[in-house]
Formats: sequence, C-alpha cells, structure tokens
Amino acid sequence: MNVAIGRKFARVTTDAVVRAPRLWRVFRPLMRRQFDELAPEWDAILSEGHLASYERALESLPSPPRRALDLGTGTGDGATAIARRFPDAGVVGADLSGAMVARARQKLPTELAGRVRFEIADASALPYEDWAFDLVAHANMIPFFDELDRVLAPGGQVLFAWSSGPETPIYVSSSRLRRELEPRGFTDFAEFEAGAGTALLARKADRS
Ligand SMILES: C[S@@+](CC[C@H](N)C(=O)[O-])C[C@H]1O[C@@H](n2cnc3c(N)ncnc32)[C@H](O)[C@@H]1O
Repeated sequence: MNVAIGRKFARVTTDAVVRAPRLWRVFRPLMRRQFDELAPEWDAILSEGHLASYERALESLPSPPRRALDLGTGTGDGATAIARRFPDAGVVGADLSGAMVARARQKLPTELAGRVRFEIADASALPYEDWAFDLVAHANMIPFFDELDRVLAPGGQVLFAWSSGPETPIYVSSSRLRRELEPRGFTDFAEFEAGAGTALLARKADRS
C-alpha cells in the first residue's frame, strides 16, 4: 500500500470503527498487514517530537501510574516514555502487528527491560484482567472504548494523543472522545497542545 493510500485507509478505518466498533473485524486483517509492512521503516517515518503532546499529558497526570498500558504502541516509544518518566511504573506496550512488537522489543533500552514488556494484542479484545491498569495511553491509535474502560481501574487515567492534531491519519476529535467517555463515567477532561500535536486526558470515576 503506498503512503498516501495508507493514510487515507487509516482515516476511513478510524471513522468507521469509532462509529461502529463491530466493523473492526472487517478492517483488522488489512490494518495488521499495513503496519506489518510499515514496521521496518516506521521510526524513519516518525516526525521529530511526534510524542510532544503525549509527553505533555503525561507530565500533567495527577499521580504517577504504577501499571500502565500503551495501546497501539508501534515500535514502543510511548511505552518507553512512560517508563522513563515514572520510575516505579510497570509498563505494557501492546500492538496488533507482530512486526511492530518485534521492533519495539529490539529497541527497548536494557535498563528498562525489567519494567517494560511488549505483547501482541488487539485493543478490541485485550488479554488483561478487569482494572489491570491505572493508565491506558494511546498515541495515534484507534480507541476501543468498552475495552479501555474494562481494563482501566476506577480513578485511573486515559490518555489520547495525536501527533499532528486533526491532520493525524488516525485521529478522533476531543468532542467525539468526550461523547464516548462521559456516559461511561469519565470526568476531569483536560486538553493539551504541544508541537504540532494535541492530547486529551480523562479520569475514570471512582468505584461507587
Ligand atoms: C499510527 S501507529 C502508532 C504507533 C505509535 N503509537 C506511535 O505513535 O508511533 C498505530 C499502531 O496501532 C496498531 N494498532 C492498530 N489497531 C490496533 C488494535 N486494534 N490493537 C492493537 N494495536 C493496533 C498498529 O499496528 C500500529 O502499530
């Protein structure tokens, strides 16, 4: 798939799946293949400061996470950023693409190896227990709201970051994110801008 078509495909898939998550099973094999093919060149494609808004949101977390999940981790930069910022956190980076996960494992600095692991997993059906994490982060990744809500502990934080704001191929507007999250009991929305990127943080309600 050429780059322009790939970007268009990513946008169409994102819009369709956010509207109708059951369509994911149609798009999943194509998406996996697209990112398997992109994995060897992914780090060269990334723009300078691509995680600026993600980092800005991490900086604003009200408390340090102890168990964090970076969904759609790609070659692992988001997971690594969490681990570097929060020295007591255990971090999982999960991705659908085996080739992305292999590259993330290769790149992981030795000093983080005990606290960061990378796994092949689909964000629409995660192999983790309910409330397994107190931070679920996404950088340029399609959100699956029911699953992220299930694996996030009460009082935990969810983060969405888009490296090029609305120009990012995989992008969901803050208003749409709020429309999905508010009925699920999320509060304390905060929005960020840094470099060319935007991000949103929200807090899952405490257990009532
Ligand atoms: C645009 S890339 C972003 C990678 C990384 N977060 C970054 O910002 O550099 C999207 C990543 O999400 C992965 N992905 C897409 N859908 C997924 C799903 N349902 N579950 C897990 N990973 C998924 C892709 O394989 C790809 O690596």
